[in-house]
Amino acid sequence: MKQALSMCAALALATALPLQDAGAQTPAKIKPAVVAAAPATEPKDPVTAEFEKFRAVLEDGNPAELFEVKGEELWKTKRGPKNASLEKCDLGLGPGVVNGAYVQTPRYYADADQVMDVERRIAWCMVNLQGFKLEDLTKKPFSNDKGTPDLVSLVTYVAGASRGMKIAIPQRHPKEIDAYNIGREIFDYRAGPYDFSCATCHGEDGKRIRMQQLPNLATRKDAMRAYAGWPGYRLTGGFMHTLQWRMNDCFRQQRFPEPGYLSDSVTAILTFLGANANGNVYKGPGINDFRERGQASLDRLDNDAVQHVCNKYGNKPAPALSHLIEAQQLATVKLPADGKLLGDWKSGEKIAQSGRGFTWTDKPGLPVGGNCYNCHEIAPTETSFGTLGPSLRNFGKLRGNTPETQKYVYSKIFNSKAFSLCSAMPRFGFMGALNEKQIQDLVALLLDPESPVNK
Ligand code: HEC
Ligand code: HEC
Repeated sequence: MKQALSMCAALALATALPLQDAGAQTPAKIKPAVVAAAPATEPKDPVTAEFEKFRAVLEDGNPAELFEVKGEELWKTKRGPKNASLEKCDLGLGPGVVNGAYVQTPRYYADADQVMDVERRIAWCMVNLQGFKLEDLTKKPFSNDKGTPDLVSLVTYVAGASRGMKIAIPQRHPKEIDAYNIGREIFDYRAGPYDFSCATCHGEDGKRIRMQQLPNLATRKDAMRAYAGWPGYRLTGGFMHTLQWRMNDCFRQQRFPEPGYLSDSVTAILTFLGANANGNVYKGPGINDFRERGQASLDRLDNDAVQHVCNKYGNKPAPALSHLIEAQQLATVKLPADGKLLGDWKSGEKIAQSGRGFTWTDKPGLPVGGNCYNCHEIAPTETSFGTLGPSLRNFGKLRGNTPETQKYVYSKIFNSKAFSLCSAMPRFGFMGALNEKQIQDLVALLLDPESPVNK
């Protein structure tokens, strides 16, 4: 799915920047989970070449990364009335240092004698180094269907350069401490036609508006949420938004007057939120419409090679490409060390029946079911079965309970994609859903002559 999203982002950007080669420029952040790179010494056949091409695309599986690429280009290009790049911009760690800067802002800048968040600081550099006019930058500061402001891409680039780093908003300079305290006051400040403050919506655990979960931003764990996915990419509209936008929209929901873009009040509230999140690891810009819940973590949106190729080619990749990746999937199959493939069909039947596991409401670590009946007719004793997959009635009788068939069935359950790349069937062993014993029991259910499947 993410790839589809990244396509939207690419389309949204297409008019705004020369980005044909985004994949190649994007640093390799999301590594394909399974596929090993071909050794450089091997001559490249056309299939390998095709494979490497999609690997490059794979690496921008997160639409935010397209904005990072654009932001980096903007950062390094000479622009503005003074024809300067931003490479001398001091984000707090010295001129031109981008790595780690995002997780250490808002902070105090002596040259401006002000606390600034990263967006305000980059705007300051655009004005002072490049000669842009502040009123031009603040006229239409947020992304809309007409485009993404340069400042938003620049913030996304700078944010991406702090991915994986610990949030460490400084609280040393008196003005930094002031900003935090003012931010806290604003957070609790009730006013307006509904008597709302930020705390009304964000001051308690586990609250929601309609179906939207509201973080309790006064706690360290949830304050992280204020930083975790920002800048964030919204599926609806395909917009990239920064925290300045988020604050603007929350004040709107609070029925307050509109806060000044890049103003002291917004800086103060971002200092309060940011410093509350100190010590947490910043995950970088991301897709902001999904929330981690229970075991359903956000990395589930990342594509591995199989998902990517099937998404990209509408489940019908060229045969040569399919075969190549199928072979790589087959190499992931781990057969039981003792060579025993046939377990206990009775317990196999229970696993085939169960559809539990892996959702955000399931307890992590509890046994996951096989879901087999959801898609297959199996034993005649169960008449409620799905038809997404072929009938497996009489499977052992038809295919024979030979060592070869046992090996095939074990491998098929372990990694269905090894035999049919874009199969609807999950990869139960590969994804860690079913363990060795469970798969042995399922093989028995299908192949054991005593199993009801073969009666
Ligand atoms: C009327 C209710 C309401 C008020 C008041 C409100 N917000 Fe929000 N806030 C929301 C909603 C709704 C969301 C979106 C939640 C989502 O996307 O799941 C949100 C999201 C956020 C987020 C992003 C959290 C995340 O998980 O990404 C931050 C940060 C935030 N608000 C801060 C504030 C601050 C600071 C104030 C006070 C200036 C404030 N909010 C006032 C309703 C409110
Ligand atoms: C979401 C649906 C789905 C689920 C769940 C599912 N399968 Fe499948 N299965 C399929 C589809 C579709 C095929 C046919 C395409 C293919 O070969 O992958 C298939 C094929 C198979 C085959 C190969 C049949 C043949 O003729 O070679 C076996 C064996 C099999 N499934 C066993 C299982 C078992 C055991 C389970 C439970 C652990 C299971 N399946 C769960 C959809 C599913």
